[in-house]
Amino acid sequence: MSRFYVTTPIYYVNDVPHIGHAYTMVIADALARWHRLSGDDVFFLTGTDEHGDKIARAAQEHGVPPNDWVDAMAERFVDAWHGLEVSNDDFIRTTEPRHHRAVQQFLGTIHDNGYTELGVYRGLYCVACEDYKKESELVDGLCAIHGRPVEMLSEENYFFKLSAFEDRLLQWYEDNPDAVRPASKRNEALGIIKGGLEDISITRTSTRWGVEVPWDPSHVFYVWYDALVNYLTAIGYGEDPERFAQWWPAVHHLIGKDIIRFHCVWWPAMCMAAGIDPPAHLLVHGWLLVSGEKMSKTRANQISPGRLSDDFGVDAVRYYLLRETTFGLDGDFSHEGITARYNADLANNLGNLLARVATVVASKCGGRGPAPRADSRLRAVAESVVADTVRAWGEAQPHVALEATWRLIHETNAELESAEPWKAEPGPAVDDVLGSALEALRIVTLLASPAMPATCAEIWRRLGLEGRPDDRRVPDDAAWGLYPAGAVVEKGAPLFPRRRG
Ligand code: MSP
Repeated sequence: MSRFYVTTPIYYVNDVPHIGHAYTMVIADALARWHRLSGDDVFFLTGTDEHGDKIARAAQEHGVPPNDWVDAMAERFVDAWHGLEVSNDDFIRTTEPRHHRAVQQFLGTIHDNGYTELGVYRGLYCVACEDYKKESELVDGLCAIHGRPVEMLSEENYFFKLSAFEDRLLQWYEDNPDAVRPASKRNEALGIIKGGLEDISITRTSTRWGVEVPWDPSHVFYVWYDALVNYLTAIGYGEDPERFAQWWPAVHHLIGKDIIRFHCVWWPAMCMAAGIDPPAHLLVHGWLLVSGEKMSKTRANQISPGRLSDDFGVDAVRYYLLRETTFGLDGDFSHEGITARYNADLANNLGNLLARVATVVASKCGGRGPAPRADSRLRAVAESVVADTVRAWGEAQPHVALEATWRLIHETNAELESAEPWKAEPGPAVDDVLGSALEALRIVTLLASPAMPATCAEIWRRLGLEGRPDDRRVPDDAAWGLYPAGAVVEKGAPLFPRRRG
């Protein structure tokens, strides 16, 4: 059995979850569900990043101790992902003792291996990024990502000798041409390395809100250093070597383009320094923009996933996030955009197909679904759709996968329109058309279930099928001809009532 380990970044708890975060989550969730459906053993990790100045200051501004603050905020993330039907297997919080132990062990090993040294750091710091900035990275003196002023910081820190890894990183990129995808993001990471790497400060003395440095307890680790280790903590690093070896290094880290440097430069180097293999796959997505800008607390342009789901339904939001944007490029969120997708793809295509087929099965076949025809024209369409969908999910391209699956919906609707079974007398010709349409719907439901789990389970039930689509296996159960003749088909209420803009 293959294994599939997928992670999301862990979210800062100074902020509430917004649909930019939901975008990453839904992609990771759909990939995890797809791999479960394919029979893989899956481990899907997400969580919250709870240390650092940004969080300590947020707690202080609200007049609560940091512990209370992070507890309350972590719950908001757990609830938001629950609301979006996210099926993570673990939820890691960096304030947990298991994580502190793993960080101390991992960074302690880097120290023991001679890759740290004490020095003084002076630099311009953006608290929102939790990162130092070069003068050249600022726009009008402000952080280019957050549009906020930076601060001059100076402190004695331990440094990680990142500069010692330039050649090894370049070699790693050469040996693993697909490690970072898409290629444009791989080039960006390579550009950073080729531009020259400086040693980086990995500890702080200005705050106590972090993981204590085991060899010098007057320091805590810098939040980014502690955060990256979460990917190891959750699979038993330092505590359960057998479990760790099952999942590492064959991980898929899903990340946004703003955190390329940390994941595609620092993280592989840190792994090398600690004597473990770098992560095998880094999948970098773009941003979901609102009127051309990144969503952020600072810009106050956030859209809550909960409110959007109340408006459109959870699965419609999931579908939109997966379908609308090309993986790796930026996408623009708008109400008009989601309404248009909803009406075209969900109401007019999928919802309408089910309603039509169920109505005619009721009027012409006594409510029981006929068998699909082995030589139906739709069979060839379904077979090529299954192959394309399988390939696209395997390549982590959700928009391509859904586009392929929807081809079968379009073709089935077209077949019905040309045969017009609603006008014909009951008989074998009508049965043939409806049996094939039911079979196409069954296959669509299987293929779309990672994107829209609840809706697909409901369609499956209305088709008169047993169990749930996610109990099945793809591609085997998506083979043509498995719709059982005589199943009771139910029309039910419209799945996606049409919406006005
Ligand atoms: N805590 C760090 C990650 C540490 S991982 C070891 C962090 N947190 S974050 O909450 O600021 O961002 C988490 C993820 O959400 C990032 O991948 C980021 O790209 C993503 N997004 C935040 N806003 C986004 C959009 N508007 N659109 C798409 N993704 C966005 O960085």
